[in-house]
Amino acid sequence: MALTLLTRNKKTIVERCRDDYSTKMRLKYAPYYHAMEWQQGTHVRLNGRDMVMLASNDYLGLSFHPAVIEAGRAAMLQWGTSTTGARLSNGSRAYHVDLEKKLAVFLDREACHVSVAGYLSCMSTVATFAQRGDVILADKNIHSCVWDGIRLSLASFERFSHNNPEDLRQLVKSIHHHTSKMIVVEGVYSMEGHIVRLPEIAQIADDQGCFLVLDDAHGFGVLGRQGRGTVDHFQLNDKVDLLCGSLSKSLASTGGFVAGSRDLIEYLRTHSKQTIFSAAISPSQAGCASAALDIMQTEPQHLDRLWRNTRRYREMLKGLGLDIWESETPAIPIVLGSKELVYRFWQALLDKGVFTVMSIAPAVPPGKDLVRTAISAMHSDEDLERVAEAMAYAVKKL
Ligand SMILES: Cc1ncc(COP(=O)(O)O)c(C=O)c1O
Repeated sequence: MALTLLTRNKKTIVERCRDDYSTKMRLKYAPYYHAMEWQQGTHVRLNGRDMVMLASNDYLGLSFHPAVIEAGRAAMLQWGTSTTGARLSNGSRAYHVDLEKKLAVFLDREACHVSVAGYLSCMSTVATFAQRGDVILADKNIHSCVWDGIRLSLASFERFSHNNPEDLRQLVKSIHHHTSKMIVVEGVYSMEGHIVRLPEIAQIADDQGCFLVLDDAHGFGVLGRQGRGTVDHFQLNDKVDLLCGSLSKSLASTGGFVAGSRDLIEYLRTHSKQTIFSAAISPSQAGCASAALDIMQTEPQHLDRLWRNTRRYREMLKGLGLDIWESETPAIPIVLGSKELVYRFWQALLDKGVFTVMSIAPAVPPGKDLVRTAISAMHSDEDLERVAEAMAYAVKKL
């Protein structure tokens, strides 16, 4: 009898997966998980067709930079393919420490810790530092990794309206002043392309004694001097307690970082499960990120080109009457408002050889269904001309 019950429980899970509506729809319309057959710079091949990639986060276009490729190769030759262990135990190497020191100096922080994914780094900034009894105040549009961190922390949480300091101020005031409070925001919101209203939010954190965490996955490399990020853009480095971000966007690698005071980073190394129980980043990942960081400081042309391309692309979209949700950065959504319109627009772009990504509710707020696009310094003038033609065609298909 007991055995029959156990088998039945197992079956329910198997059946739930087999009958899952979202998976069925994904497989039917196949909008995601496209495996490109080839790539060179901004060009990819999909189902035998050459396409312009208009959805990557390679903002500075360094993923095909010869010095970055060479650094990855050299690191692998020197250190092997993997550390096969966590930093705490057998996985720490001199190249981790070097990269962390370089990042800390660049970000004007005392210390930094790198991990295998931006997702883990950003999750751990919340999960490790907030605890039961604390209150987390989070912008309602923050990334999924931060929501996971919030859940793991066991702290209670409140959402405030997207990028709305007035709403945040009202919320903070409603919380008992003895309660430890953490505010979590993004530097550049990944879907919307909005820059956080940091001056007002940092002022609230200051006035109300809140610990301030900023996820700068999309601001790093894009804003501030030499791409030092959103906090540098506003010159508010002393107002943000912890910065986290990704190595997989402007740094053209894979991995993540957390930067802050020495005390905070050492606390993270003691308490973060995402650090203690996860293998260290590989030699080639660290080598590529380190070389990209050097290039950010010695070759300003990539940042200049990124912004030139961004301005040109934004004007193109506005000229076509498209709604770009007031994006201020190279992460530019095209808001269409329903999943049917998004699918039609995305398919038309694909037909014309431009690869973008669909984002529909609940990943975005209802009515904000969109096609996410992102500009890279690597896009050539010819790429942008091809994109312009494809956009004009897709608009006619709406
Ligand atoms: C805002 C934000 N934070 C964190 C991450 C996670 O970074 P990674 O892809 O390096 O894991 C992302 C990734 O898209 C992101 O957009």
